[in-house]
Amino acid sequence: MLFEGKFTEDGFDNRITRLFGIKYPIIQAGMIWASGWKLASAVSNAGGLGIIGAGSMYPDTLKEHIQKCKQATDKPFAVNLPLLYPDIDKHVAHVIEENVPIVFTSAGNPKTWTAKLKENGITVVHVVSSAKFAKKSEDAGVDAVVAEGFEAGGHNGREETTTLCLIPAVRESITIPLIAAGGIGAGRAMYAVMALGAEGAQFGSRFVCTPEASSHLAFKQAIIAAGEGDTALVLKSLTPVRLIKNPFYQKVHAAEEEGSSKEHLMELLGRGRAKLGMFEGDLAEGELEIGQVSGMIHDIIPAGELVEKAANSPFRF
Ligand SMILES: Cc1cc2nc3c(=O)[nH]c(=O)nc-3n(C[C@H](O)[C@H](O)[C@H](O)COP(=O)(O)O)c2cc1C
Repeated sequence: MLFEGKFTEDGFDNRITRLFGIKYPIIQAGMIWASGWKLASAVSNAGGLGIIGAGSMYPDTLKEHIQKCKQATDKPFAVNLPLLYPDIDKHVAHVIEENVPIVFTSAGNPKTWTAKLKENGITVVHVVSSAKFAKKSEDAGVDAVVAEGFEAGGHNGREETTTLCLIPAVRESITIPLIAAGGIGAGRAMYAVMALGAEGAQFGSRFVCTPEASSHLAFKQAIIAAGEGDTALVLKSLTPVRLIKNPFYQKVHAAEEEGSSKEHLMELLGRGRAKLGMFEGDLAEGELEIGQVSGMIHDIIPAGELVEKAANSPFRF
């Protein structure tokens, strides 16, 4: 066997499928403006782990999504909490009240909330982009780590380490279960990262192109139209993010090339760009977060079919 774990009559058995109580080691990433209860429940029903992305939700909206998700699936699901969210304490209160079984924390210090979540019986996973922070997360008491490479869509680490180099390095630095992210859009990539030492694969960009994702159809079509080299990382001096190279990206990139101050970049960014692009479908002025794997996404397919194909037909998909 090339990797840890084994195929069973009913899916796959390894530390990640056992930790979450799922059939396949496939995790659908928490994504702002894309992953609400519809996407999360569809993935969980198909045997993966669906995640509600709380980063674009008011606390009451999150509560509603959790309640709808519980009605739509009896399988485990998770909530992603970006830790820099201004109302993070309200988000944490809702996941505890609603008995959410698993939380993926990101963009912040795992020391701050891990103990409280775990005291309430929640399995905690933290997202990192380096071996150093993977070790810090393990020391903070998380149950597993997601290591996300430079290819990934959305906010990204400053180290620029690609998934191929990151996963073996993280594997050597921690003993707890490891999930790989960044550039995984099909079964063959999932099994490749498992050969590198991961025990699960988090797919982000690929799940945006499903009917269940709440992203605007125009954004989904822009992803399908995107080819090799059509995304780039910008805003490295503020919060690095990988975007489609649309007119908004060009403006930000030009400002960075001219050596603009952080203040000027923040002013250019303004408020609500991500919602404008990804949820409202303004392809010129909005922020369009997506990964390099967009060059390999050619269609919109149901989330459940994606899970099945990735797990069971890796070399035809
Ligand atoms: C549209 C979009 C929104 C995202 N939003 C979040 C988020 O709210 N929280 C987070 O931790 N990661 C977010 N990410 C990163 C994903 O969780 C995931 O790690 C990443 O997409 C994996 O790389 P891939 O896009 O190559 O599959 C986002 C990614 C995308 C494409």
